[in-house]
Amino acid sequence: MTTATTGRTAGTTPAGAVGTAHTRVEGRDKVTGAARYAGDVPFADLAHGRLVLSTVARGRIRSVEAEGVLGMPGVLAVLHHGNAPRVDTDYVGMLGVPPDPTAAVFQHDRIPHAGWPVALVVAETPEQAREAAEALVVTYERQPHDTAFHAGRPDAYPADGHMPATTEKGDLEAALAASAHVVDAEYTTPEEHHAMMEPHAAAARWDGGRLEVVDSNQGTTWIADELVKMFSLEPSAVRVRSEHVGGGFGSKGLRAHQVAAVMAATVLRRPVRVVLTRRQMFSLTGYRSPTTQRVRLGADADGRLRALEHRSLNQTSTVWEFVEPGAGPARVMYDADAHRTVNEVVRLDVPSPTWMRAPGEAPGSFALEAALDELAERCGVDPVELRLRNEPERGPASGLPFAGRNLAACFREGARRFGWTGRDPRPGVRREGRWLLGTGTAAASFPAGALPSTAAVTARADGTFTVRIAAADIGTGARTALTLVAADALRVAPDRIEVRIGDSDFGPAGIAGGSMGTRSWAWAVTAAAEELRDRLVPGAVVPPEGVTVRSDTTAALGALAHKERHSFGAQFAEVAVDVATGEVRVRRMLGIFAAGRIVNPLTARSQLVGGMTWGISMALHEEAVRDHASGGLYGADLAGYHIATHADVPAIEADWVDDPDPDDPIGIKGLGEIGIVGAAAAVANAVWHATGVRHRSLPIRPDRVL
Ligand code: MOS
Repeated sequence: MTTATTGRTAGTTPAGAVGTAHTRVEGRDKVTGAARYAGDVPFADLAHGRLVLSTVARGRIRSVEAEGVLGMPGVLAVLHHGNAPRVDTDYVGMLGVPPDPTAAVFQHDRIPHAGWPVALVVAETPEQAREAAEALVVTYERQPHDTAFHAGRPDAYPADGHMPATTEKGDLEAALAASAHVVDAEYTTPEEHHAMMEPHAAAARWDGGRLEVVDSNQGTTWIADELVKMFSLEPSAVRVRSEHVGGGFGSKGLRAHQVAAVMAATVLRRPVRVVLTRRQMFSLTGYRSPTTQRVRLGADADGRLRALEHRSLNQTSTVWEFVEPGAGPARVMYDADAHRTVNEVVRLDVPSPTWMRAPGEAPGSFALEAALDELAERCGVDPVELRLRNEPERGPASGLPFAGRNLAACFREGARRFGWTGRDPRPGVRREGRWLLGTGTAAASFPAGALPSTAAVTARADGTFTVRIAAADIGTGARTALTLVAADALRVAPDRIEVRIGDSDFGPAGIAGGSMGTRSWAWAVTAAAEELRDRLVPGAVVPPEGVTVRSDTTAALGALAHKERHSFGAQFAEVAVDVATGEVRVRRMLGIFAAGRIVNPLTARSQLVGGMTWGISMALHEEAVRDHASGGLYGADLAGYHIATHADVPAIEADWVDDPDPDDPIGIKGLGEIGIVGAAAAVANAVWHATGVRHRSLPIRPDRVL
């Protein structure tokens, strides 16, 4: 037994870590290569699986000619619909949705889209698996396919997804007819892909009757829960680990690679790893659906909205319904007596889309905030002033009070710092050599929620503390944020805290998604740490095994109900447009956000700047182009799919106003996704201000500018 001395265990350091900049606690491991990702965690006797994807867009598998490759060097097995284990897909996972059947590989012979997984070749080495996979002959019975996404599809239908398909109040047509100014415009956004640095990878092995999966994901609880249900296992029989993740953005949930690896490990009785190729990711790991959106706004002479309609259509696959709720932001941002929002989907022979950073808000804010800019022009009202005049008292669709809405403060601070005041509203009049110059603004919002989580905090006899929580650090700095949170709750310095994450054995926790990670986990860590601090009165004895306190926030999250709870922001952009080539260069961007209490300003700023950078990319570069003849994509790789690179990204500034959430123990809201919201609209609005031409279809490519 060790007697802890006062000041070593019972914390006396004033809380003050939260809110101070802190470099990543695992940063050194990452930059020195010591950090292991799912694709490089070593396993004894590891075999390697390579997926084979369909080359037709619709039809049936006639044959998988496995014999042809089973004799190739190192080949151990070919799994396909004729021999793979059966799994259960008739369940609802912890996110409240059924699994995307794309992940439940090899269950039938039907092909619903190009790039559908039809076989897994397993071999001793990745190279042998690749060679055999490329040699594997699969024959198909082709059927006609339809991948044509466009407005006005007669087979489109309203769909709920995570929110009701429709909200409606008032007489829209009457309010539009009575409006002094009307905007009625269609906007389109293309198919976009997450393109995170680290490809999806998972290694699976059975160990003493337990399934262990080392994976790259956004929540080990989530993936373990899905595997338990899909393979009909006891919850205690599955352990998922995911220590480091090189980007997720909504794409790193249950996918074909984990399921294929588990199947192969089960059949072969040895560990199997499946790593997706960049090209495979373009059809297997989800993407942001293209959207077509129609926005109708009606306003009084002074710009006050009387009518607002936002309709958004996205595509989904024939096997899974995914709603990209582009009409969602209008439900929160602007009120009008007549107000209607509708999200619709159409089922096509395409891969299943999924959540991609700010699903709904990213494309929806482009249409809505570009339409607001068009309204400002019609009314002759400054775009910032127009938004201030239309600040709602309560949630326009919900009727609920806001838990906090500091959007006006964001616009005032942003306008001041950007130098917006005195802006000449006329388009196309600022010239600098061959460049036309313009500035634009847009508002941003994103829901601020939380998911139930459990955490364990242990006091050690040496005066240090270990936090265990099945959190996921997908590059956000979650580990570091939780270190600061635990330090404050325990009243000790951050260097006495070790945070361990990414292991489903730590107990259930929410995902790194929906901008909810930090808040959800910080709540659980704080609850456990505060109780531990109460127990460790000065002079308390810490036994060799330590003192552990566990928490569960399930009941406490009720405190967040009954209010409209969002983060908000104001985006500003300055662009230069080359009148000779049509090239658009973003010269500077500023985002001011009201996103709750900021835990770690260093990583928070990185998150916001990363989102804004992605907004530039969305505005100017990103576009996956589907070849309707084959049903697949042109250029399904990072050469063909353009993303903003360093040369495209100017000085970007992100900052925030004081905005603690009154109902959160720490004041956190969440900022993982809001950085991209409104960013593309701010750029598009600036392009209009530079050129006098409205761009309602993204990306604003040089050939479209001229
Ligand atoms: Mo985010 S699209 O919830 O990872």
